[in-house]
Amino acid sequence: MTDLANVSFVRPARKIAGTVVAFVGGDLQLGKAATALGVAGLVRQAAATAEFKGKLRTTLDLLAPRGTELDRLVVIGVGKPEKLTEADWVKLGGATIGALGKANKATVLFERPDGEAVPGAAAAEFALGAKLRAYSFDNYRPDSEDAPKRKTPADLAIAVEDVAGAKAAWVAQGAAADGVIIARDLINEPANVLGPVEFANRAKALKDVGVDVEILTETQMKKLGMRALLGVAQGSARPPRLVIMRWNGGKAKDAPLAFVGKGVVFDTGGISIKPAGGMEDMKGDMGGAAAVTGLMHTLAARKAKVNAVGVIGIVENMPDGAAQRPGDIVTAMTGRTIEIINTDAEGRLVLADAIAYTEDRFKPKFIIDLATLTGAIIVALGHHQAGMFASDDKLAEALSKAGTATGELVWRMPLSAEYDKMIDSKFADVKNAGARDAGAITAAHFIKRFVKDTPWVHLDIAGTALGSPHTDINRSWSSGWGVRLLDRLVADSYEG
Ligand code: BES
Ligand code: MN
Ligand code: ZN
Repeated sequence: MTDLANVSFVRPARKIAGTVVAFVGGDLQLGKAATALGVAGLVRQAAATAEFKGKLRTTLDLLAPRGTELDRLVVIGVGKPEKLTEADWVKLGGATIGALGKANKATVLFERPDGEAVPGAAAAEFALGAKLRAYSFDNYRPDSEDAPKRKTPADLAIAVEDVAGAKAAWVAQGAAADGVIIARDLINEPANVLGPVEFANRAKALKDVGVDVEILTETQMKKLGMRALLGVAQGSARPPRLVIMRWNGGKAKDAPLAFVGKGVVFDTGGISIKPAGGMEDMKGDMGGAAAVTGLMHTLAARKAKVNAVGVIGIVENMPDGAAQRPGDIVTAMTGRTIEIINTDAEGRLVLADAIAYTEDRFKPKFIIDLATLTGAIIVALGHHQAGMFASDDKLAEALSKAGTATGELVWRMPLSAEYDKMIDSKFADVKNAGARDAGAITAAHFIKRFVKDTPWVHLDIAGTALGSPHTDINRSWSSGWGVRLLDRLVADSYEG
């Protein structure tokens, strides 16, 4: 795991040396511990010179501050401390790692500058942001001078009054951080290394945190009639896998929550081959499966009080003598026939069988699928929000709320009979691609035809999972989008 920040929670000490991080409000006031360092005058002087006003997430860096034992004082603005939300604390943790740069040891005076008590949970939120910001995928240039980020983990000692509260809250936040990092690592990994079998092996490691992991081979999938998924896989020399991950933290009789992920380890487009430019990004076409894997880790690691199942269909989409052709007709596990119009519309074929299997076997409370499914959703929403398609208003609303809380935003898109008609086929029950118009919506309708009556949401994460914008808590090509959103949905709506 690429984890470049160690965090610990400690009681505020009297004597502090080295590098210290202190928060300052919009009025340039410092908290108790920071004031006790005798740096108030210095900070005012430096702030005046640098025109630093203590605004939220702005920083002021003082090296070898005069008259102290410190090597460095990093002052982080928090604006109006009474207004700080959970999301602010997470971002402040990220901004702090950013401000520290390559420094690898620091003490954070975790206190509110206005003297009000700060709950330990806020320190855990801060630590989550710090962990996520410190992440960088440098596995293939471990000693290179070109690597932009630190090589040794940053050691953050977070000095907070409520140490017990912070440690208790860190169980869940630390599990979320690890889940996101697992997802990012899987997505950033090149496809020559991460084939379907290797992906399944990495998912198997979730056994260590108590997840039950089953892996189906091609032969088993053939017996189940998964000809939609297998049709995609048949052009690759590397055989497909279906991985079923189960976490049972709820009551034995409770139906599980189900999460299904698209795991195309590389998408060339198949015979309907993609243009060369940017094709390297298609190593990330398993972003949905990576998010589901990270989520299952998080739920188990924090011992979530729910039953959950994660199912990921893992294939490679290649052009080859054995590859599927446009015009081919395949029969999915549900018995529906599919006319292949475009072999590059492969993700929906994988999902059709993975979802049918999940619904059949587990009779879940809901099914949420995640997939880097269409370029069209990037045209519509860019990289800032995922497209959400829902057959269930309540579930959609709960997801929107979880999105606002975590900053992993979803935007609801329409479903209707007019769009559904666009994938009627001349020869089969359905075709796998409509015209160019409304490409993300017709893709969602295709999936919908393979869900019976379980409440269902499809998240098109092509924009949010890959080529992620740089934020306070992410500097990686892959953000690990979806892990925190779904973990939050589970915690807020299904754990009582
Ligand atoms: N994996 C792609 C979608 C994608 C594009 C993800 C860019 C991330 C970045 C998907 O399999 C695909 O090729 N979709 C086609 C569908 C079309 C052929 C109907 C698309 O969006 O062009
Ligand atoms: Mn494709
Ligand atoms: Zn794809």
